[in-house]
Amino acid sequence: MLGLATGSTPLGIYRELRRVHAEEGVSFAGVVTFNLDEYLGLGPRDPRSFRAFMQRELFDHLDVDPLDVHIPSGTLHPAEVADHCTRYEEAIRAAGGIDLQLLGLGRNGHVAFNEPGSAADSRTRRIELHPVTREDAAGAFGDLEHVPRAAITMGVGTILEARSLRVLAFGPAKARAVRALVDGPRDAAWPASLLRGHRDLRLWIDDDAAAQLTA
Ligand code: GLP
Repeated sequence: MLGLATGSTPLGIYRELRRVHAEEGVSFAGVVTFNLDEYLGLGPRDPRSFRAFMQRELFDHLDVDPLDVHIPSGTLHPAEVADHCTRYEEAIRAAGGIDLQLLGLGRNGHVAFNEPGSAADSRTRRIELHPVTREDAAGAFGDLEHVPRAAITMGVGTILEARSLRVLAFGPAKARAVRALVDGPRDAAWPASLLRGHRDLRLWIDDDAAAQLTA
């Protein structure tokens, strides 16, 4: 069971997964996946949705059974949100829990769309996007005004239940968030810091992202 992330950060991993499938014949049949989050207001065919991103970058190129792919829905009526989130959590449990969760970091320390202020025991839910998150997404949406204002995200508590966490961070924009994760106090103001203490947490980062670490 794989937990997958979106954004530019995991693209190298997805490229390699496509390569080993195409060139080395590695099969992904039987692999069950759960994505972290989805923008609210975007349908699966909207190229800016995380569903479309995952199809384009990964699933269209592998032999994962479409029924084994799980991504929160971005087209929920407000009255459906709570039930959808509960069922997402149940599906993770029913599939046996996430073995390996890939995670990127937001410039503001968010993990998935757990924005500053998210609790360590938060679960899958609707969340209002932070101004920094919306600013960082503006390029993909043409301008800030078109960036969705809310999303569905796995919670920090949900993520912490994965058996292994792998946090990827590349470039200087991620250095502050990496410092919060490694050196800072466990503080909801920097959600990445709430991951610390997980029994199998590893960082895959570059020198720029590590620039603010003290040791
Ligand atoms: C989005 C996703 C996060 C991701 C972040 C970083 O906000 N919800 O899961 O970690 O972007 O994006 P990038 O990898 O493009 O820097």
